[in-house]
Amino acid sequence: MPAPLIIAIDGPSGVGKTTTSRMVARELGIPHIDTGAMYRALAVAATREGIDTHDSAALEQLAHRVRIDFIAGEPPRVLLNDEDVTSLIRTPEMSMAASNVSAVPAVRRVLVRLQQDLGRRGGGVLEGRDIGTKVFPETPFKFFLTARPEVRAQRRHDELAAKGEEVDYDAILAATVARDDQDSNRADSPLRYDDSYTVVDTSDLDIPAVVNAIVNGVRART
Ligand code: DC
Repeated sequence: MPAPLIIAIDGPSGVGKTTTSRMVARELGIPHIDTGAMYRALAVAATREGIDTHDSAALEQLAHRVRIDFIAGEPPRVLLNDEDVTSLIRTPEMSMAASNVSAVPAVRRVLVRLQQDLGRRGGGVLEGRDIGTKVFPETPFKFFLTARPEVRAQRRHDELAAKGEEVDYDAILAATVARDDQDSNRADSPLRYDDSYTVVDTSDLDIPAVVNAIVNGVRART
């Protein structure tokens, strides 16, 4: 049996990873695995149980205890112990809480193992921060999406505004920069790329152009 096709899509927040990864997965007929959603679901579980998002021992225990599942569909759903938490995980509070729990090495060990199991089972487009550096470093298909912080903050702003939420652009920009800073400077698996990645600056590209660049890049080599 041929090895499952693994595509790594890493990059900072608000760069379009989720929409892009979902469309690439659909084009190639393989699963989409949103690894950020796993850290977010764990952050929801921690918040509910009153666990501090820096409490390494309690978070490790929690990570072993919870079940996180993805249900494919339009839109895809994220389940925490069988409960649909798809909307709950997307709040600005859970963004920062997810960033906090993701800095805990013991949490990463549990979730990375889960991500590797999922990928090995049926291949996939995995999006995150460390897919090409830690989760599947051996895949030849690694893409790093970037965009100027102002563009990323504007996209988040528009996304939230479209959901009817009251949002302040400056606050979003500050939160975006703070979270990227934390994700890029943690000790374990910081957001990084090297020359094994194809870097795509999405600042002035629309989503279909980014999807095409990735799909064509993969098809040219398979
Ligand atoms: O991609 P996202 O914004 O949904 O991710 C939420 C947080 O989870 C992000 O701030 C950092 C963390 N994360 C991570 O450390 N490693 C991943 N592979 C994916 C996300």
